[in-house]
This record gives sequence, C-alpha cells and structure tokens, in this order.
Amino acid sequence: MTQIREAWGSKLGFILAAAGSAVGLGNIWKFPYIAGENGGAAFIFIYLICIVIIGFPVLISEILIGRTTQRNPVGAFSMLSNSKGWISVGFLGVLAGFLILSFYSVIGGWTLGYVVETLRGSLSNFKSPEEAGVLFGRLSGNALWTLGYHTLFFFLTMFIVIRGVQGGIERSSKVMMPVLLSILVILMIRGVTLDGASEGLAFLWVPDWSKINGQAILIALGHAFFTLSLGMGAMMTYGSYMSKKDNVVSAAGQIVFLDTVIALMAGVAIFTAVFASGLNPAAGPGLIFQTLPAVFAGMTGGVYFAFLFFLLLAIAALTSAISLLEVVVAYFVDERGWNRKGAVMIFGGTIFLLGVPSALSFNLMSDVTFMGKTFFDVVDFIASNILLPFGGLMIAIFAGWVWSRSAVMEAVKEGAENFFEMNPNFETIWFIFLKFIAPVLIAIVLLNSLGIV
Ligand code: PHE
Repeated sequence: MTQIREAWGSKLGFILAAAGSAVGLGNIWKFPYIAGENGGAAFIFIYLICIVIIGFPVLISEILIGRTTQRNPVGAFSMLSNSKGWISVGFLGVLAGFLILSFYSVIGGWTLGYVVETLRGSLSNFKSPEEAGVLFGRLSGNALWTLGYHTLFFFLTMFIVIRGVQGGIERSSKVMMPVLLSILVILMIRGVTLDGASEGLAFLWVPDWSKINGQAILIALGHAFFTLSLGMGAMMTYGSYMSKKDNVVSAAGQIVFLDTVIALMAGVAIFTAVFASGLNPAAGPGLIFQTLPAVFAGMTGGVYFAFLFFLLLAIAALTSAISLLEVVVAYFVDERGWNRKGAVMIFGGTIFLLGVPSALSFNLMSDVTFMGKTFFDVVDFIASNILLPFGGLMIAIFAGWVWSRSAVMEAVKEGAENFFEMNPNFETIWFIFLKFIAPVLIAIVLLNSLGIV
C-alpha cells in the first residue's frame, strides 16, 4: 500500500461531490410524492426533525470513519475493529451499493428518456395526467426503451467513475451541481409566479397534523437515510478521500443543508405548479412522470420547463449513481488490488446486468413476482428498507459505543479544533444522539420494515 491514494482537490470539491450523492431521485422524485401522500407540511416538519437528530449525527460519524481510515467500508471497519462482525457490516455496504445502483439506474434511464421525449415534442399535448400516464405506461412498458436508457445511464456513470476521484467525480460534480441549482431556481421562480401558486405553498407550509400517524413517521425516518446516502458507506468512501485539515462537522452540516434546501425547493417548484393546474398532490410515484408532464403541457413555454425539469432529475440521479459505483470500486481497488479501470468495467458491468431484470420488471417481467413484488420492488425493498437502516444503525452503534470516545474525539477534532472550542456542548449532544436516540429510532424503523412492529 505504498501507492498514494486518491484524494479530493479541495473541501469545496468534497462538499459538492457529497451533496451530489445526497441530492438525487430521493429529493426530486421521492420526497415530493411522499410529502404529498402524507399530508404536506406536517410530514415535512417530522422529516426535518429526523434529518437533524438522526441524519446529521450519523453523517458526521460516517464521514469520520472514512476519513480516519482512508479506506472503503470493508477496509475501514477492519482497520478500526478487526472483528468479523464489523467487517461484514462493511460488506453489506458494498452489497447495498450493488443493489441500489442496479435499480437506481433504471429510473435514472427514464429521466434521460424523458429529456429526449421532451425534445421530440411527445410531452406537449397532454390534457390530463391520465393521458400523460398512458405515454408513461407505453414507454416504461417497452423493454427496448427501458433497457436502452438503462444502458445509456450506466455508461455515463461508468464514464465518470473511470476518470477517478478528482478528474471524474469531483470535476463533474463541480459542473453538474451548479447547473442543478440554477435549474431548480428557475423552476421555483416559474412555480411561485403561477396563478394559484399560493395554494401549493400553503400545502407545504401549513401543517395538517391529522395526517400524521406512526406510518408517516417511519416513512420520514427511512427517507432521512436514503436522501443523505447514509448506511451503506457512500459517505464513508467519499469521506475517505477527505483531507485531515478540513472540518468534518462543518462539511456534514453543509451537505445536510444543501440536501434539505434542494428537497424543499423541489417541493416548492412542483407543488405550486401542481396546485396551480388544479391537480392532485397525492399522486404517488406517478407525480413526476404523469402529473407533472400534464402540468407542463398546460403552461406557456411548458416544453422548456419540462426539458429543464427532466434534465434536473437526470443530473441529480447521475451524481448519486457515481457515488454508489464508487463504493464498489473503492473496495476492489483498496482491498483487492484492482486498478480503477478494471474494477469499473467488471463490477460496473455486473451491476448493469443485475439491473436488467429491474428494467424488465415494468414490461416483459411484470408478471414475475415474489410475494406480490416485482424484481425491481424486491431489490429496492431489501436495499432501501433493510440494508440502509441496518447499516445506519450499525454506524451509530459503532461510533457511539464501540470505537473509543477518546479516539472519536481525537479524529473529529482534526481540522476542527476551533469548532469544538467554540461549541463546548456539541460533543455531549452529538453523543447522546449517536448512542441513544438514533439507535432506538432506527431499530424501530428496521423492525417495522421487517414486519415485526
Ligand atoms: N441519496 C440519494 C438520493 O436521494 C440516493 C442514494 C442512497 C445515493 C444511498 C447513494 C447511497 O436519491
């Protein structure tokens, strides 16, 4: 291991790459529709609490484990604990990377497909979400269409990761993240200036507590993990390329801030437009691919906004996908001595193939179900509802109970001496969340996913 390991060129580069990982389909596709289904403002309030009391403390820990060991999740746990149990937590992270990327790329492909469809003009004549739904059904029901765009999306992901941490991931994030933010600002301004936008804003800001039940809280908590890319080592791997001169706490704070603000901006852009068109905010997963195309079709200049919107989604998905692939690649590079190019080609190729049955779950294989779930749904469920919360639970327990507190503090203070002097209570609060609050709440989510509570 005498070879110099790759690293970010700057703290800003790290923040943009990590925010790129966090901001994804989770923020722009999933967050608006789960908020819509669960009553809007009250749900968002609970989600924000989950982000602060669980997401933020676990994110600091994950980045810190990576930065301290300068390794992928498997190598990181074996360096810090050397017990088989903890090393297998690292392995589960790599496995989650395989699984999530395989189906994520299918949806990522749809977003690219929709960019092309807007350019071809097929999205401009809808009079209702039902009509948009027919097109969506036709496209996703076409095996060649889904496979083709899955392939294209995967190709782009591999193309970036093959170029390395600085030359590929950091460089592309520095371009894509500002573009993403600019598009979102444009769409938000368009949204709030529509007639009837205020109803959409009220839906987002005026809480209706009657909609909140245990299930909604669990969804909010589970989503806090997914949206911050926690629990599978993506942030650990990105943290492993971070300099010890930089402050982990402030970096984590900036990532959380960007992820949250972008989800809320997406909510504003989408709900103002949906309400202004008099459509239903609780449309579920079809909100983006069925309701929104109908909204855009009814707007002056709607084609341009539709184009920008799907481009936004595609960029968000791509910057997340590269972080998923990087976890897998980092493992084979650090632990197995592969070179980056070989690891990207071979394991990227494997993940791509694993994605094929997910892509076919909407067409040729839609009848192949396991306990009522398609292949796509099974992989999504195992990864997002079991592996991520389990990984998050283990990371909180590891940082809170297993790794000695003095070692944690020594590691976190590197690059953050002033921060801890100026915020003397931060340590105590962080540890209370890590040791008690996060593990208990995550354990409840996990048991619920497994159908136990
Ligand atoms: N955070 C990403 C999103 O919101 C998804 C993701 C999960 C990415 C886990 C990497 C690791 O879409």
